[in-house]
Amino acid sequence: KKKAFIFDLDGVIVDTAKYHYLAWKKLADSLGITFTHEDNELLKGVSRVRSLEIILGLGNVSASEEDKNRWLHQKNVDYLAYIEKMDENEILPDVVRVLDFLKDYGQKIVLGSASKNAKPILEKAKIINYFDAIVDGNDVTNAKPDPEVFLQGAKNAELPNEACIVFEDSLAGIQAANLANMISIGIGDATVLNEADFCFKDFTKMSNEFLLDLINN
Ligand code: BG6
Ligand code: MG
Repeated sequence: KKKAFIFDLDGVIVDTAKYHYLAWKKLADSLGITFTHEDNELLKGVSRVRSLEIILGLGNVSASEEDKNRWLHQKNVDYLAYIEKMDENEILPDVVRVLDFLKDYGQKIVLGSASKNAKPILEKAKIINYFDAIVDGNDVTNAKPDPEVFLQGAKNAELPNEACIVFEDSLAGIQAANLANMISIGIGDATVLNEADFCFKDFTKMSNEFLLDLINN
């Protein structure tokens, strides 16, 4: 059967959380806000604007819209400097095996990401050509757990929501997939992603037989 496999980007295809962390950390330091790796977990899957609000909240800092916009811009400039050096070596293990398998079986491959930097990252990783449709932070207004990004992905793939399977590393993303009536597959810690239909630590744990079952059922 023809299905659409919708991939989140950050934390599913590439490990960009470390770069987001470094860029946010620089801003937090400059504002005298303590920002740890643990705090960074709160930002996974969360939009850029909401991420800033969370960090300011950690330090009880209030700011004008003008300040916030300036900080958001600077954070992205710093983030892009890390992304600049990215290449295909940063693709997470077995992502390409899964993409190749799905392509061989004629399945649609879609990106469903909150990031406004999704396309340059896919280009740098040299995998943008796998994607039949890309829906990213430039295309949607409502952030995950709102299902908008995945509903738009199904539409672009011209398949019903029930024929879509979502790979996500954030709980907000799993909730968005569930709200969209799609099969949700967690990539990461099953105790965190406890609302997912299935969960795997990473793609190396996901067999071709499992993928075939998703295609045929
Ligand atoms: C999500 C990340 O995929 O995209 C978040 O998990 C990030 O950490 C969000 O804030 C927005 O990304 P960007 O690249 O537009 O700042
Ligand atoms: Mg993610």
